[in-house]
Amino acid sequence: MDHRTFILLFIVFLFSVTAFSSETPNDGEDPIIRQVVDGGGVRLGAEYHFNQFKHRFGKVYSSKDEHDYRFNLFKTNLHRAKRHQIMDPSAVHGVTRFSDLTPREFRHSVLGLRGLSLPSDATPAPILPTDNLPADFDWREKGAVTAVKNQGSCGSCWSFSTTGALEGAHYLATGELVSLSEQQLVDCDHECDPEEAGSCDSGCNGGLMNSAFEYILKSGGVMREKDYPYSGTDKGVCKFDKTKIAASVANFSVVSLNEDQIAANLVKNGPLAVAINAVFMQTYIGGVSCPYVCSRRLDHGVLLVGYGSGAYAPIRMKEKPYWIIKNSWGENWGENGYYKICQGKNICGVDSMVSTVAAVHTTATTTQ
Ligand SMILES: *[C@@H]1O[C@H](CO)[C@@H](O)[C@H](O)[C@H]1NC(C)=O
Repeated sequence: MDHRTFILLFIVFLFSVTAFSSETPNDGEDPIIRQVVDGGGVRLGAEYHFNQFKHRFGKVYSSKDEHDYRFNLFKTNLHRAKRHQIMDPSAVHGVTRFSDLTPREFRHSVLGLRGLSLPSDATPAPILPTDNLPADFDWREKGAVTAVKNQGSCGSCWSFSTTGALEGAHYLATGELVSLSEQQLVDCDHECDPEEAGSCDSGCNGGLMNSAFEYILKSGGVMREKDYPYSGTDKGVCKFDKTKIAASVANFSVVSLNEDQIAANLVKNGPLAVAINAVFMQTYIGGVSCPYVCSRRLDHGVLLVGYGSGAYAPIRMKEKPYWIIKNSWGENWGENGYYKICQGKNICGVDSMVSTVAAVHTTATTTQ
């Protein structure tokens, strides 16, 4: 049996094991539950775990029915976490803030990438030399990344990915790190994707980073976070004040599907706006995510801030490279708000929609 056949059989085996285990609700055999619960019966185990979850994330349910419904979802999600753990052994999967949501609720409330057409109209980034790239690189260490933010229950990921990239570009252009307003984008940016009818940036219902860059070019810029703070709802009117612009886009372009080019653009131009499939992020606790199989259907916008390498490969332990990604689900998610995902195979589509932005060089930005 050759190597590829072995891997294939192994994956088939994993699917059958996980599919079977999810249909047999024998929680006592479930290591995800077992690892937290000492003794106690099967039901007691999940209940104990659920109580911990409610306490940790401040969950309050309005009725007994709602509580029971969420408890059932929670149990389903424990099994999902277990399947993810088997499919993605170099990361740690378990209970997260999203453990009482259906997959649909998860997609609608904490993701928010809209329009799946690749931005063919956007300018391709110039090809950069890749021969002298550093082995490890992290924009956080160079002061180009603001603190992790939290989009809350609003599908506004795209606005955080956009501001993150512009914050970095603005830092490179001016030497000043300024936290920028996502709420301005949520309230004011209704830019449409010319490639796809009806696909426009629409607040908590999703958007696209490239459309948002286009909006910023047209509007003139983005205000500071503190001058236009985040509310996490899209019911408000646009309160953009042109006199308080803190950062402006000079241009933006799309990086080709090539990891060396992505790394070179990251190092030269600052953090990059990227799209990803977030299914494994729902249960992610830490480590380098490198699932055997992951959809490339892009549903989440995040920020690529660096790369590194480590011995995380599950089959052969050798140094392998990964991307470092800033998410917008607060510091209590993942590794202090960050996600690591392996390089090498466009896993979860992470290399497919990468944008780089340049900020306008300015001296003084806003008056305080
Ligand atoms: C984008 O803007 C930056 C900063 O103003 C400039 O250096 C660069 O040449 C521009 N790139 C393109 C492709 O126009």
